[in-house]
Amino acid sequence: MQLVHSVSELRARLAGEQSVAFVPTMGNLHEGHIELVRIARQRGSCVVVSIFVNPIQFGPNEDFDKYPRTLDADCAKLQGLADVVFAPAVEEMYPEKQTIFVEPPPISRELCGEFRPGHFQGVATVVLKLFNLVQPQVAIFGKKDYQQLTVIRQMVTQLNLPIEIVGAETSRAADGLALSSRNQYLSDAERTEAVLLSQTLRGMGTALAGGAADYAALEQGASAALAKRGWQVEYVAVRKQADLGVPGMEERKLVILAAARLGKTRLIDNLEVCL
Ligand code: PAF
Repeated sequence: MQLVHSVSELRARLAGEQSVAFVPTMGNLHEGHIELVRIARQRGSCVVVSIFVNPIQFGPNEDFDKYPRTLDADCAKLQGLADVVFAPAVEEMYPEKQTIFVEPPPISRELCGEFRPGHFQGVATVVLKLFNLVQPQVAIFGKKDYQQLTVIRQMVTQLNLPIEIVGAETSRAADGLALSSRNQYLSDAERTEAVLLSQTLRGMGTALAGGAADYAALEQGASAALAKRGWQVEYVAVRKQADLGVPGMEERKLVILAAARLGKTRLIDNLEVCL
């Protein structure tokens, strides 16, 4: 495995590679990331993992400064799985002030986008830059960040990028909590409570599968139940899997998405439901 920090090293290493599978990350790798890399291993002869905490996708009051940076431990986990780790400094990714941005689709302003203005513009812009640098044939993203995956898919389709996007299932702890680097911000008591988010989604999924059709009532009931336990709920929403639009009654492929804060920690999760 080769660790490279500069664009020139990366381009030199990847010159002539015909089958590159790419996993973009912000590091602090956990089993969920490693699963994405295992999928990449099956999809390309050269596996590239990027590790870059991207400043332009964080809002002014978000956790950019405290986001855990653990490059040595990450590289140890990637030994034998990845061929190339690209870990650029901020100045390498943004050698001049970024004044050109990807304008993400309207769905970027809903759900997480309503609470994190500019987030998906920052994500789409850095992912496009990474795609231009790595030039992969396949890129793997976790379904945990369902809205991100939707935005990336739309960007790839609408900008005609010759890259297959693979969405990987969410990796979960034994109690159901979706794995996330941010879980480590939780206190012990919060970690115990955190399982309620996935349980809430599963409860809603069961109700939908059982014929519940008043989505607004389901969303409000779930939000109220979380709020009663001290969660600050941003949203609980039933949407269409295809584009995250508001579903009509005829829609069979749904996804329930939620974002809520437990103390200072913001958690997101989702559940696909096929009726
Ligand atoms: O999902 C993430 O870790 C980040 O949003 C990504 C895709 C690496 C872009 O910075």
